[in-house]
Amino acid sequence: MTLKTFTRPGPKGQAIIERDSCLMSGSSTPRYPFVMERGSGAKVWDVDGNEYIDFAAGIAVTATGHAHPEVVAAITEQAQKFIHIAGTDYYYETQIALAERLNEISPFENPARVFLTNSGAEAVEGAVKMARWYTERPHVIAFFGAFHGRTMGALSLTASKFVQRDGFFPLIPGIHHVPYNNPYRCQHGREEAACLSHCMCADFIEDVLFKRTVPPESVAAIILEPIQGEGGYIVPDSRFVQQLRSICDEYSILLIADEVQTGIGRTGKWWAMEHHGVTPDIICSAKGLASGMPLGAIIARDDIMSWPIGSHGSTYGGNPVSCAAALATIDLVERGYMQNAIEQGEFIMDALAEMQARHPSMRHGRIAGKGLMIGLELVDDASRHPAKELRNSVERQAIDDGLLILGAGDSTLRFCPPLMIPRDLVQEGLERFERSLTTVEQEAGLL
Ligand SMILES: Cc1ncc(COP(=O)(O)O)c(C=O)c1O
Repeated sequence: MTLKTFTRPGPKGQAIIERDSCLMSGSSTPRYPFVMERGSGAKVWDVDGNEYIDFAAGIAVTATGHAHPEVVAAITEQAQKFIHIAGTDYYYETQIALAERLNEISPFENPARVFLTNSGAEAVEGAVKMARWYTERPHVIAFFGAFHGRTMGALSLTASKFVQRDGFFPLIPGIHHVPYNNPYRCQHGREEAACLSHCMCADFIEDVLFKRTVPPESVAAIILEPIQGEGGYIVPDSRFVQQLRSICDEYSILLIADEVQTGIGRTGKWWAMEHHGVTPDIICSAKGLASGMPLGAIIARDDIMSWPIGSHGSTYGGNPVSCAAALATIDLVERGYMQNAIEQGEFIMDALAEMQARHPSMRHGRIAGKGLMIGLELVDDASRHPAKELRNSVERQAIDDGLLILGAGDSTLRFCPPLMIPRDLVQEGLERFERSLTTVEQEAGLL
Protein backbone atom coordinates (compact mmCIF):
# COMPACT_ATOMS: atom_id res chain seq x y z
CA MET A 1 0.00 0.00 0.00
CA THR A 2 1.42 3.40 -0.93
CA LEU A 3 0.99 6.05 1.72
CA LYS A 4 -0.39 9.34 0.50
CA THR A 5 2.08 12.21 0.78
CA PHE A 6 0.98 15.59 2.06
CA THR A 7 2.70 18.91 1.45
CA ARG A 8 1.92 20.28 4.91
CA PRO A 9 3.34 20.71 7.48
CA GLY A 10 6.43 22.29 5.97
CA PRO A 11 9.92 21.81 7.46
CA LYS A 12 9.56 24.41 10.24
CA GLY A 13 6.20 23.02 11.30
CA GLN A 14 7.51 19.47 11.18
CA ALA A 15 10.42 20.36 13.48
CA ILE A 16 8.06 21.90 16.05
CA ILE A 17 5.72 18.91 15.94
CA GLU A 18 8.69 16.61 16.61
CA ARG A 19 9.76 18.68 19.65
CA ASP A 20 6.16 18.64 20.90
CA SER A 21 5.85 14.88 20.53
CA CYS A 22 8.77 14.28 22.94
CA LEU A 23 7.50 16.53 25.72
CA MET A 24 3.80 17.27 25.66
CA SER A 25 1.18 14.93 27.08
CA GLY A 26 -0.08 12.69 24.33
CA SER A 27 -3.60 12.71 25.76
CA SER A 28 -5.16 15.29 23.45
CA THR A 29 -7.37 14.19 20.60
CA PRO A 30 -5.17 13.40 17.57
CA ARG A 31 -3.95 16.82 16.55
CA TYR A 32 -3.94 18.32 13.08
CA PRO A 33 -0.53 19.09 11.56
CA PHE A 34 -1.03 22.84 11.60
CA VAL A 35 1.55 24.93 13.50
CA MET A 36 0.29 28.46 13.95
CA GLU A 37 2.42 31.53 13.36
CA ARG A 38 -0.23 34.26 13.37
CA GLY A 39 -3.84 35.04 12.60
CA SER A 40 -5.96 37.94 11.41
CA GLY A 41 -9.75 37.82 11.28
CA ALA A 42 -10.77 34.47 9.82
CA LYS A 43 -7.36 33.75 8.31
CA VAL A 44 -4.36 32.06 9.90
CA TRP A 45 -0.81 31.35 8.77
CA ASP A 46 1.49 28.50 9.68
CA VAL A 47 5.19 28.80 10.53
CA ASP A 48 6.11 27.85 6.96
CA GLY A 49 4.18 30.80 5.55
CA ASN A 50 1.09 28.91 4.29
CA GLU A 51 -2.26 30.69 4.58
CA TYR A 52 -5.49 29.00 5.74
CA ILE A 53 -9.14 29.94 6.13
CA ASP A 54 -10.26 29.20 9.66
CA PHE A 55 -13.56 27.31 9.85
CA ALA A 56 -12.64 26.01 13.31
CA ALA A 57 -12.08 29.21 15.36
CA GLY A 58 -10.03 27.32 17.96
CA ILE A 59 -13.03 25.04 18.71
CA ALA A 60 -15.72 27.69 18.29
CA VAL A 61 -13.86 30.18 20.47
CA THR A 62 -12.43 33.13 18.53
CA ALA A 63 -15.79 34.84 18.03
CA THR A 64 -14.31 38.14 16.89
CA GLY A 65 -11.64 36.51 14.73
CA HIS A 66 -7.94 36.45 15.38
CA ALA A 67 -6.30 39.48 16.92
CA HIS A 68 -9.28 41.81 16.53
CA PRO A 69 -7.86 45.34 17.05
CA GLU A 70 -10.54 46.29 19.61
CA VAL A 71 -9.98 43.12 21.61
CA VAL A 72 -6.20 43.53 21.45
CA ALA A 73 -6.53 47.16 22.57
CA ALA A 74 -8.76 46.18 25.52
CA ILE A 75 -6.32 43.44 26.55
CA THR A 76 -3.32 45.77 26.24
CA GLU A 77 -4.93 48.59 28.15
CA GLN A 78 -5.89 46.29 31.02
CA ALA A 79 -2.52 44.45 31.07
CA GLN A 80 -0.71 47.78 31.36
CA LYS A 81 -2.73 48.60 34.48
CA PHE A 82 -2.65 45.20 36.23
CA ILE A 83 -2.86 41.56 35.18
CA HIS A 84 -4.05 39.85 38.33
CA ILE A 85 -5.35 40.54 41.83
CA ALA A 86 -7.72 37.57 42.54
CA GLY A 87 -11.33 38.52 42.08
CA THR A 88 -12.48 36.18 44.81
CA ASP A 89 -10.50 38.26 47.38
CA TYR A 90 -10.52 41.83 46.02
CA TYR A 91 -12.65 44.04 43.81
CA TYR A 92 -12.00 45.52 40.37
CA GLU A 93 -14.23 47.32 37.94
CA THR A 94 -13.81 45.13 34.82
CA GLN A 95 -15.21 42.13 36.67
CA ILE A 96 -18.29 44.02 37.85
CA ALA A 97 -18.75 45.62 34.42
CA LEU A 98 -18.72 42.18 32.84
CA ALA A 99 -21.28 40.83 35.33
CA GLU A 100 -23.49 43.83 34.49
CA ARG A 101 -23.08 43.15 30.77
CA LEU A 102 -23.87 39.45 31.19
CA ASN A 103 -26.95 40.48 33.12
CA GLU A 104 -28.09 42.66 30.24
CA ILE A 105 -27.91 39.74 27.83
CA SER A 106 -29.10 37.06 30.24
CA PRO A 107 -32.56 35.61 29.57
CA PHE A 108 -33.70 35.87 33.19
CA GLU A 109 -36.58 38.13 34.09
CA ASN A 110 -34.94 39.44 37.25
CA PRO A 111 -31.31 40.43 37.77
CA ALA A 112 -29.03 37.41 37.76
CA ARG A 113 -25.80 36.78 39.64
CA VAL A 114 -22.52 35.77 38.05
CA PHE A 115 -19.56 33.62 39.06
CA LEU A 116 -16.55 33.90 36.74
CA THR A 117 -14.32 30.92 35.97
CA ASN A 118 -11.34 30.06 33.76
CA SER A 119 -12.95 27.49 31.51
CA GLY A 120 -16.09 25.71 30.43
CA ALA A 121 -15.48 22.68 32.62
CA GLU A 122 -15.02 24.90 35.66
CA ALA A 123 -18.30 26.68 34.91
CA VAL A 124 -20.10 23.34 34.60
CA GLU A 125 -18.60 22.00 37.84
CA GLY A 126 -19.56 25.15 39.71
CA ALA A 127 -23.10 25.08 38.30
CA VAL A 128 -23.63 21.50 39.46
CA LYS A 129 -22.17 22.25 42.89
CA MET A 130 -24.52 25.22 43.17
CA ALA A 131 -27.54 23.13 42.11
CA ARG A 132 -26.74 20.50 44.73
CA TRP A 133 -26.27 23.17 47.38
CA TYR A 134 -29.46 25.07 46.51
CA THR A 135 -31.78 22.08 46.20
CA GLU A 136 -30.10 19.96 48.88
CA ARG A 137 -30.50 17.05 46.45
CA PRO A 138 -27.72 14.75 45.22
CA HIS A 139 -28.68 13.55 41.73
CA VAL A 140 -28.10 15.09 38.31
CA ILE A 141 -29.49 14.02 34.94
CA ALA A 142 -27.30 14.43 31.84
CA PHE A 143 -27.52 13.11 28.30
CA PHE A 144 -25.82 10.50 26.17
CA GLY A 145 -23.68 12.29 23.60
CA ALA A 146 -23.11 15.22 25.95
CA PHE A 147 -19.74 16.87 26.38
CA HIS A 148 -19.34 19.03 29.47
CA GLY A 149 -15.56 18.94 29.97
CA ARG A 150 -12.88 16.68 31.32
CA THR A 151 -12.22 17.58 34.95
CA MET A 152 -13.57 14.94 37.31
CA GLY A 153 -16.99 16.49 37.93
CA ALA A 154 -17.53 17.67 34.36
CA LEU A 155 -16.25 14.34 33.04
CA SER A 156 -18.84 12.54 35.13
CA LEU A 157 -21.50 14.41 33.12
CA THR A 158 -19.75 13.87 29.78
CA ALA A 159 -20.96 10.85 27.81
CA SER A 160 -19.59 11.56 24.37
CA LYS A 161 -16.78 9.07 23.71
CA PHE A 162 -15.76 6.17 25.91
CA VAL A 163 -12.04 7.03 25.64
CA GLN A 164 -12.74 10.24 27.53
CA ARG A 165 -13.89 8.26 30.60
CA ASP A 166 -12.07 4.94 30.29
CA GLY A 167 -9.45 4.47 33.01
CA PHE A 168 -10.73 7.32 35.17
CA PHE A 169 -13.44 5.55 37.19
CA PRO A 170 -14.88 5.95 39.73
CA LEU A 171 -16.33 9.26 38.65
CA ILE A 172 -18.57 11.35 40.91
CA PRO A 173 -21.71 9.52 41.99
CA GLY A 174 -25.30 10.56 41.39
CA ILE A 175 -25.11 11.23 37.63
CA HIS A 176 -27.68 9.54 35.39
CA HIS A 177 -27.44 9.61 31.60
CA VAL A 178 -30.53 9.44 29.42
CA PRO A 179 -31.09 9.64 25.63
CA TYR A 180 -30.95 13.02 23.84
CA ASN A 181 -33.37 13.85 21.06
CA ASN A 182 -31.83 13.15 17.67
CA PRO A 183 -34.44 12.23 15.07
CA TYR A 184 -31.74 11.39 12.48
CA ARG A 185 -30.43 8.67 14.83
CA CYS A 186 -33.19 7.98 17.33
CA GLN A 187 -31.60 6.32 20.35
CA HIS A 188 -34.74 4.28 20.88
CA GLY A 189 -34.23 2.79 17.39
CA ARG A 190 -37.33 4.41 15.94
CA GLU A 191 -37.83 5.77 12.43
CA GLU A 192 -37.12 9.48 11.92
CA ALA A 193 -40.80 10.26 11.24
CA ALA A 194 -41.94 8.51 14.42
CA CYS A 195 -39.33 10.34 16.48
CA LEU A 196 -40.35 13.64 14.94
CA SER A 197 -44.00 13.04 15.66
CA HIS A 198 -43.36 12.10 19.29
CA CYS A 199 -39.94 12.04 20.94
CA MET A 200 -39.60 9.46 23.72
CA CYS A 201 -36.44 10.89 25.32
CA ALA A 202 -38.09 13.18 27.86
CA ASP A 203 -40.80 10.55 28.51
CA PHE A 204 -37.97 8.17 29.42
CA ILE A 205 -37.01 10.40 32.34
CA GLU A 206 -40.48 10.29 33.85
CA ASP A 207 -41.60 6.82 32.78
CA VAL A 208 -38.39 4.89 33.41
CA LEU A 209 -35.80 6.82 35.42
CA PHE A 210 -38.17 8.35 37.96
CA LYS A 211 -40.18 5.16 38.34
CA ARG A 212 -37.34 2.65 38.54
CA THR A 213 -34.07 4.16 39.73
CA VAL A 214 -34.12 7.80 40.85
CA PRO A 215 -36.95 9.50 42.72
CA PRO A 216 -37.55 12.93 41.18
CA GLU A 217 -37.43 14.52 44.64
CA SER A 218 -33.74 13.53 44.81
CA VAL A 219 -32.78 15.22 41.51
CA ALA A 220 -31.03 18.59 41.77
CA ALA A 221 -30.67 19.39 38.08
CA ILE A 222 -31.00 18.39 34.48
CA ILE A 223 -28.03 19.66 32.47
CA LEU A 224 -28.16 19.88 28.70
CA GLU A 225 -26.44 21.43 25.73
CA PRO A 226 -29.15 23.24 23.73
CA ILE A 227 -27.32 21.95 20.64
CA GLN A 228 -24.94 19.07 21.32
CA GLY A 229 -21.47 20.19 20.29
CA GLU A 230 -18.70 17.62 20.57
CA GLY A 231 -21.39 14.93 20.26
CA GLY A 232 -21.88 15.89 16.60
CA TYR A 233 -23.66 19.25 16.31
CA ILE A 234 -27.05 17.71 17.02
CA VAL A 235 -29.95 20.19 16.99
CA PRO A 236 -32.75 18.74 19.10
CA ASP A 237 -36.44 19.29 18.54
CA SER A 238 -37.54 22.27 20.64
CA ARG A 239 -40.49 20.26 21.97
CA PHE A 240 -38.00 17.95 23.70
CA VAL A 241 -36.31 20.90 25.43
CA GLN A 242 -39.70 22.35 26.35
CA GLN A 243 -40.72 19.02 27.86
CA LEU A 244 -37.54 19.05 29.98
CA ARG A 245 -38.54 22.48 31.28
CA SER A 246 -41.97 21.12 32.25
CA ILE A 247 -40.41 18.17 34.07
CA CYS A 248 -38.12 20.55 35.95
CA ASP A 249 -41.05 22.77 36.89
CA GLU A 250 -43.16 19.86 38.04
CA TYR A 251 -40.51 18.37 40.33
CA SER A 252 -38.65 21.56 41.37
CA ILE A 253 -35.53 20.49 39.49
CA LEU A 254 -33.12 23.11 38.13
CA LEU A 255 -32.48 23.27 34.39
CA ILE A 256 -28.83 24.01 33.61
CA ALA A 257 -28.05 25.10 30.04
CA ASP A 258 -24.46 24.35 29.09
CA GLU A 259 -24.00 27.16 26.57
CA VAL A 260 -20.22 26.87 26.59
CA GLN A 261 -20.12 26.22 22.84
CA THR A 262 -23.50 27.58 21.78
CA GLY A 263 -23.56 30.86 23.68
CA ILE A 264 -22.53 34.49 23.08
CA GLY A 265 -24.09 34.81 19.65
CA ARG A 266 -22.66 31.74 17.93
CA THR A 267 -26.09 30.44 16.93
CA GLY A 268 -27.43 33.86 15.97
CA LYS A 269 -28.90 34.52 19.41
CA TRP A 270 -27.12 35.30 22.66
CA TRP A 271 -28.13 31.87 23.96
CA ALA A 272 -29.18 28.85 21.93
CA MET A 273 -31.91 28.11 24.49
CA GLU A 274 -33.73 31.08 22.96
CA HIS A 275 -34.23 29.01 19.78
CA HIS A 276 -36.17 26.52 21.89
CA GLY A 277 -38.23 29.20 23.64
CA VAL A 278 -37.03 27.91 27.02
CA THR A 279 -35.48 29.83 29.91
CA PRO A 280 -33.08 27.78 32.01
CA ASP A 281 -32.31 28.40 35.69
CA ILE A 282 -28.53 28.42 35.29
CA ILE A 283 -26.34 29.13 32.26
CA CYS A 284 -22.73 28.01 31.79
CA SER A 285 -20.70 30.09 29.35
CA ALA A 286 -17.07 30.07 28.15
CA LYS A 287 -15.38 29.60 24.73
CA GLY A 288 -16.56 32.60 22.63
CA LEU A 289 -17.03 34.78 25.70
CA ALA A 290 -13.59 36.41 25.63
CA SER A 291 -12.43 35.78 22.03
CA GLY A 292 -9.87 33.22 23.20
CA MET A 293 -8.73 34.61 26.53
CA PRO A 294 -9.51 31.98 29.17
CA LEU A 295 -12.81 32.85 30.81
CA GLY A 296 -16.03 31.14 31.78
CA ALA A 297 -19.15 32.21 33.61
CA ILE A 298 -21.96 30.75 35.63
CA ILE A 299 -25.01 32.97 35.32
CA ALA A 300 -27.92 32.08 37.58
CA ARG A 301 -31.10 33.38 39.02
CA ASP A 302 -30.36 35.56 42.03
CA ASP A 303 -32.12 33.26 44.50
CA ILE A 304 -30.22 30.22 43.25
CA MET A 305 -26.76 31.79 43.46
CA SER A 306 -27.14 32.38 47.15
CA TRP A 307 -24.45 30.00 48.37
CA PRO A 308 -22.62 31.16 51.48
CA ILE A 309 -19.30 32.98 51.79
CA GLY A 310 -16.38 30.60 51.32
CA SER A 311 -18.39 27.87 49.60
CA HIS A 312 -16.86 28.39 46.13
CA GLY A 313 -13.90 30.30 44.67
CA SER A 314 -11.19 30.43 41.99
CA THR A 315 -7.79 32.15 42.01
CA TYR A 316 -7.76 33.17 38.36
CA GLY A 317 -11.49 33.04 37.56
CA GLY A 318 -12.58 36.40 36.17
CA ASN A 319 -9.03 37.47 35.40
CA PRO A 320 -9.09 41.22 34.64
CA VAL A 321 -7.42 40.86 31.23
CA SER A 322 -9.92 38.16 30.25
CA CYS A 323 -12.80 40.34 31.50
CA ALA A 324 -11.57 43.25 29.38
CA ALA A 325 -11.44 40.96 26.35
CA ALA A 326 -14.97 39.73 27.12
CA LEU A 327 -16.37 43.26 27.34
CA ALA A 328 -14.88 44.11 23.94
CA THR A 329 -16.12 40.79 22.51
CA ILE A 330 -19.71 41.25 23.69
CA ASP A 331 -19.76 44.78 22.22
CA LEU A 332 -18.54 43.52 18.85
CA VAL A 333 -20.95 40.61 18.79
CA GLU A 334 -23.82 42.96 19.62
CA ARG A 335 -22.77 45.60 17.07
CA GLY A 336 -22.90 43.19 14.11
CA TYR A 337 -21.21 39.82 14.45
CA MET A 338 -24.32 38.06 15.77
CA GLN A 339 -26.25 39.26 12.72
CA ASN A 340 -23.34 38.20 10.54
CA ALA A 341 -23.49 34.73 12.11
CA ILE A 342 -27.13 34.47 11.00
CA GLU A 343 -26.40 35.62 7.44
CA GLN A 344 -23.25 33.59 6.85
CA GLY A 345 -24.81 30.58 8.57
CA GLU A 346 -27.78 30.62 6.21
CA PHE A 347 -25.40 30.92 3.26
CA ILE A 348 -23.38 27.89 4.43
CA MET A 349 -26.52 25.81 5.03
CA ASP A 350 -27.76 26.59 1.50
CA ALA A 351 -24.35 25.92 -0.05
CA LEU A 352 -24.07 22.54 1.70
CA ALA A 353 -27.57 21.59 0.61
CA GLU A 354 -26.62 22.48 -2.95
CA MET A 355 -23.44 20.34 -2.71
CA GLN A 356 -25.31 17.35 -1.36
CA ALA A 357 -26.30 15.83 -4.70
CA ARG A 358 -22.72 15.95 -6.01
CA HIS A 359 -21.16 13.96 -3.15
CA PRO A 360 -21.98 10.35 -2.28
CA SER A 361 -20.93 10.79 1.36
CA MET A 362 -23.27 13.78 1.75
CA ARG A 363 -26.22 12.39 -0.15
CA HIS A 364 -27.84 10.65 2.83
CA GLY A 365 -26.01 12.74 5.39
CA ARG A 366 -27.28 15.27 7.87
CA ILE A 367 -26.90 19.04 7.59
CA ALA A 368 -28.03 20.82 10.72
CA GLY A 369 -27.26 23.94 12.65
CA LYS A 370 -28.08 27.44 13.76
CA GLY A 371 -26.07 30.54 12.97
CA LEU A 372 -22.42 29.61 12.64
CA MET A 373 -22.73 26.31 14.45
CA ILE A 374 -23.32 23.94 11.55
CA GLY A 375 -22.68 20.22 11.36
CA LEU A 376 -22.39 18.03 8.28
CA GLU A 377 -22.62 14.33 9.09
CA LEU A 378 -21.05 12.16 6.40
CA VAL A 379 -22.48 8.66 5.95
CA ASP A 380 -21.77 5.65 3.73
CA ASP A 381 -25.21 5.32 2.15
CA ALA A 382 -28.94 5.19 2.92
CA SER A 383 -28.14 2.97 5.92
CA ARG A 384 -26.66 6.12 7.53
CA HIS A 385 -23.63 4.22 8.69
CA PRO A 386 -21.13 6.89 9.82
CA ALA A 387 -18.35 7.51 7.27
CA LYS A 388 -15.78 8.04 9.98
CA GLU A 389 -12.56 7.28 8.06
CA LEU A 390 -13.71 9.44 5.19
CA ARG A 391 -14.52 12.32 7.55
CA ASN A 392 -11.08 12.01 9.13
CA SER A 393 -9.44 12.05 5.70
CA VAL A 394 -11.34 15.21 4.73
CA GLU A 395 -10.07 16.98 7.85
CA ARG A 396 -6.49 16.02 6.97
CA GLN A 397 -6.82 16.80 3.26
CA ALA A 398 -8.29 20.21 4.13
CA ILE A 399 -5.02 21.19 5.81
CA ASP A 400 -3.24 20.70 2.50
CA ASP A 401 -6.00 22.65 0.76
CA GLY A 402 -5.64 25.59 3.16
CA LEU A 403 -8.66 25.09 5.39
CA LEU A 404 -8.96 24.42 9.12
CA ILE A 405 -12.06 22.34 9.81
CA LEU A 406 -12.82 20.20 12.85
CA GLY A 407 -14.71 16.98 13.39
CA ALA A 408 -17.36 16.25 16.02
CA GLY A 409 -19.21 13.06 16.92
CA ASP A 410 -18.51 9.95 14.85
CA SER A 411 -18.52 11.39 11.35
CA THR A 412 -19.57 15.03 11.50
CA LEU A 413 -17.61 17.99 10.21
CA ARG A 414 -18.32 21.24 11.97
CA PHE A 415 -18.47 24.62 10.32
CA CYS A 416 -17.85 27.05 13.17
CA PRO A 417 -15.75 29.94 11.83
CA PRO A 418 -15.31 33.23 13.71
CA LEU A 419 -18.60 35.13 13.86
CA MET A 420 -17.02 38.02 11.95
CA ILE A 421 -16.13 35.95 8.86
CA PRO A 422 -16.88 37.92 5.68
CA ARG A 423 -18.81 36.39 2.77
CA ASP A 424 -15.82 36.13 0.42
CA LEU A 425 -13.93 33.98 2.93
CA VAL A 426 -17.01 31.84 3.54
CA GLN A 427 -17.22 31.22 -0.20
CA GLU A 428 -13.50 30.54 -0.60
CA GLY A 429 -13.57 28.25 2.46
CA LEU A 430 -16.50 26.29 1.05
CA GLU A 431 -14.67 25.90 -2.26
CA ARG A 432 -11.61 24.57 -0.44
CA PHE A 433 -13.84 22.22 1.54
CA GLU A 434 -15.47 20.83 -1.60
CA ARG A 435 -12.04 20.37 -3.19
CA SER A 436 -10.92 18.32 -0.17
CA LEU A 437 -14.10 16.25 -0.13
CA THR A 438 -13.81 15.57 -3.86
CA THR A 439 -10.20 14.42 -3.49
CA VAL A 440 -11.07 12.09 -0.62
CA GLU A 441 -14.14 10.67 -2.33
CA GLN A 442 -12.09 10.05 -5.48
CA GLU A 443 -9.41 8.27 -3.47
CA ALA A 444 -12.09 6.15 -1.81
CA GLY A 445 -13.44 5.18 -5.26
CA LEU A 446 -16.76 6.92 -4.65
CA LEU A 447 -16.46 9.37 -7.55
C1 LIG B 1 -20.69 22.26 25.70
C2 LIG B 1 -19.35 22.24 26.35
N1 LIG B 1 -19.26 22.29 27.69
C3 LIG B 1 -18.08 22.30 28.33
C4 LIG B 1 -16.89 22.24 27.62
C5 LIG B 1 -15.60 22.25 28.35
O1 LIG B 1 -15.00 23.48 28.17
P1 LIG B 1 -13.43 23.68 28.47
O2 LIG B 1 -12.70 22.91 27.44
O3 LIG B 1 -13.23 25.15 28.39
O4 LIG B 1 -13.20 23.15 29.84
C6 LIG B 1 -16.93 22.19 26.23
C7 LIG B 1 -15.70 22.10 25.44
O5 LIG B 1 -15.66 21.77 24.30
C8 LIG B 1 -18.19 22.19 25.58
O6 LIG B 1 -18.29 22.14 24.24
